[in-house]
Amino acid sequence: MTISDSLVEWFAENARSLPWRTDPRDAYRTLVSEIMLQQTQVDRVTPRFVEFVHRWPDLKALAAASEDDVLSVWSGLGYYRRARLLHRLAREVVESGRDRLPQDIEGLRALPGIGDYTAAAVGSLAFGLEAPVLDGNVERVVARMTAFGGNPRTSIAQTRMKSWVRKLFPGHHPGVVNEALMELGATVCMPSRPRCEACPLAFECKGHEAGRPVEYPPPRKVRETEHLRWVAACIVGPDGRWLLRRVQEGPILRGLWLPPLADLEAQADPVGVAMGLTPEGLMVECGAVSGAVRHHITHRRIEVVPVLMHVLHTDFPAAMWQWSRPGEVIGGTSSLFEKLHKAIEINEKKHQ
Ligand code: ADE
Repeated sequence: MTISDSLVEWFAENARSLPWRTDPRDAYRTLVSEIMLQQTQVDRVTPRFVEFVHRWPDLKALAAASEDDVLSVWSGLGYYRRARLLHRLAREVVESGRDRLPQDIEGLRALPGIGDYTAAAVGSLAFGLEAPVLDGNVERVVARMTAFGGNPRTSIAQTRMKSWVRKLFPGHHPGVVNEALMELGATVCMPSRPRCEACPLAFECKGHEAGRPVEYPPPRKVRETEHLRWVAACIVGPDGRWLLRRVQEGPILRGLWLPPLADLEAQADPVGVAMGLTPEGLMVECGAVSGAVRHHITHRRIEVVPVLMHVLHTDFPAAMWQWSRPGEVIGGTSSLFEKLHKAIEINEKKHQ
């Protein structure tokens, strides 16, 4: 049996049932799922995907949506730039008088937010184009199969890996081959504990043969961790809603609705800094300072100190603000909002 036959047969029997794996495959759903799956796990993507395509079943519907609504449904998936670009893509396609995605790699690649990976994934899965897909899972499978000990991200390595994948295409649907490799990487050829005994390709795997599959590919150099400390002004109105503001600047969380945040220097008083974050015209009474909440964004470790403030009187232009609760935010927010909300709730209960 050839590698490709064994792979495709394994996939037919073992593919997880996922909501974008429809028969026939829908290009729009494939695009939405592939964008969501970049940097986010399948389990987290699945419910968001279902909600997203239920609300906007095609490009035309998505193009007509407001950005705030798109960001709301994206909440919790992180990396909101992807959502903005997907929305822009829908508008661009529809405004150019089409209602469907281009069916060639160059056409796909020219759209906002679509790089080599997404163009190859959508092109192969939805349109049967012979474009190899290399994501982290596939790179690991190929590095192990070929006992490739170099850095898989270099352009030479990428070219070699793509040509290895391309050799599996003849006689099969390229999208099936690509997706089978992704699935194998996600469910069998895992980073630290590969299940070689369940692998349909073990018979041809050089890493397995050498008895050291986990050494391929070599570990990436990790980005140095950055530690940040913030204060959050948790301003609570009489109905329990919190005052949120759109994050205006900075490399992270930009454009999302959150309680007002500021850097907190080591010696600074959290209450004083939080008071400075209240909008003019709003009178508050300061409550307790809760234990810090931990929030991670890529290589950043952020400690956020919540300061509770109860509103006494409001008289301020609310245009740049909204009152909300977790789960009700209009526009995108971050799971940081929910964490702060929980921290305050726990602290309140302790002191009741
Ligand atoms: N990761 C990215 N795309 C995927 C897909 N189509 N199936 C499984 N995992 C994936």
